[in-house]
Amino acid sequence: IASHLLAYFFTELNHDQVQKVDKYLYHMRLSDEQLQDISNRFMKEMEKGLGRATNPTASVKMLPTFVRSTPNGTENGEFLALDLGGTNFRVLRVKVSDNGSQQVEMENQIYAIPEHIMRGSGTQLFDHIAECLANFMDKLNIKDKRLPLGFTFSFPCHQTKLDESILVTWTKGFKSSGVEGKDIVSLLRKAIQKRGDFETDIVAVINDTVGTMMSCGFDDHNCEVGLIVGTGTNACYMEEMQHIDLVEGDEGRMCINMEWGAFGDDGVLDDIRTEFDREIDMGSLNPGKQLFEKMISGMYMGELVRLIMVKMAKEGLLFGGKSTPDLLTTGHFETRFVSAIEKDKEGVQKAHEILTNLGLEPSKEDCVATHRICQIVSTRSSNLCAATLAGVLKRIKNNKGTERLRSSVGVDGTVYKKHPQFARRLHKAVRRLVPDCDIRFIRSEDGSGKGAAMVTAVAYRLLSQHKT
Ligand code: GLC
Repeated sequence: IASHLLAYFFTELNHDQVQKVDKYLYHMRLSDEQLQDISNRFMKEMEKGLGRATNPTASVKMLPTFVRSTPNGTENGEFLALDLGGTNFRVLRVKVSDNGSQQVEMENQIYAIPEHIMRGSGTQLFDHIAECLANFMDKLNIKDKRLPLGFTFSFPCHQTKLDESILVTWTKGFKSSGVEGKDIVSLLRKAIQKRGDFETDIVAVINDTVGTMMSCGFDDHNCEVGLIVGTGTNACYMEEMQHIDLVEGDEGRMCINMEWGAFGDDGVLDDIRTEFDREIDMGSLNPGKQLFEKMISGMYMGELVRLIMVKMAKEGLLFGGKSTPDLLTTGHFETRFVSAIEKDKEGVQKAHEILTNLGLEPSKEDCVATHRICQIVSTRSSNLCAATLAGVLKRIKNNKGTERLRSSVGVDGTVYKKHPQFARRLHKAVRRLVPDCDIRFIRSEDGSGKGAAMVTAVAYRLLSQHKT
């Protein structure tokens, strides 16, 4: 009886805490009806971004990538790849061989980009990238080879061809001066020429979403969407050329980098944004921009939870009304804590550990409440991703005019891969929102590296065909 009573007591306790938080965060809990509505709004934004007359004022830019087809299996060679814009900056060597079945072999090295370089001058940034490249080639003893290079540059860019890419605006943690409005290929070429100790052919610049789609499309020819939920969030998909006003030609398809992180920058999501979303935005490097991304991605998720805890503590709803210097410091509640706290069994215990490390003396109730806050913030994130993704799938389905759409989505990013519940919740929500689609989700293995190499390989193959 005693243990029965105890269990009853804890269930009651949990129940009370959950109710308290649910009530407090009422506006963060979105119904399927609301998600369907957001999905429809997003479809309108896609349309707006694609139209010639409406594109200049559209917040979702729908950028053409000049990637027209997925690999055909005959690519081969040795390539260099750069990956900038995710959690780590990396340099890679990728060998693609084609003996019967295609095989990919990769080596990579992570390099740090100090904050003063991320927020310094563009010259500093590109000199640093060139230096890391030189260091990598030294190590691999390939400095005397002139290899083709693919650059995964995960920011919004205007492209008119594969090897020209004009940065529209920095997003996430970058704010390096004198790069916006410039072609990053020529900036990198200049930095390399200035050194003069090695040469390379920069063949392609791609977004990480495109790399992710390409690397999955390799094994699955139904893969026509690439999704990232990591430091930032964004997606790309294959669109019919006839719908892309900004590019000549009506034949076939082209991959569109949607830059959906900017959804809502014109105010269309103001009704669902909360005071916490506004606070995050005001304290960010790019106020007023990437408003959808700020509700979802890893760069902001932990901070959202922290802001909620601070306010609840101030109102006496958490930690007996106390807070600590750590709890009050921007960035001290990291997104990986959200993942730890939402682990199935040890979650509430983890909450205790993490809160204690922030100098708090949490009660059992505080830990349960914190767990619930994390759940609500991360579920809103997966639900919002599901809403926009559903919009994309409905569009692809309309384009094809089929009864049922069978399609695969390549996915990457730290939130998708490391949060214990995120992927499952996202999949379930998408299936609820588009019941007439059969969607397969494929975890991409190093899309940024492999994808860049694949695009480079294809471009290189075409380039050499033209030359001969
Ligand atoms: C940001 C970038 C976008 C990228 C995404 C994921 O939203 O603007 O280009 O794909 O982050 O890394």
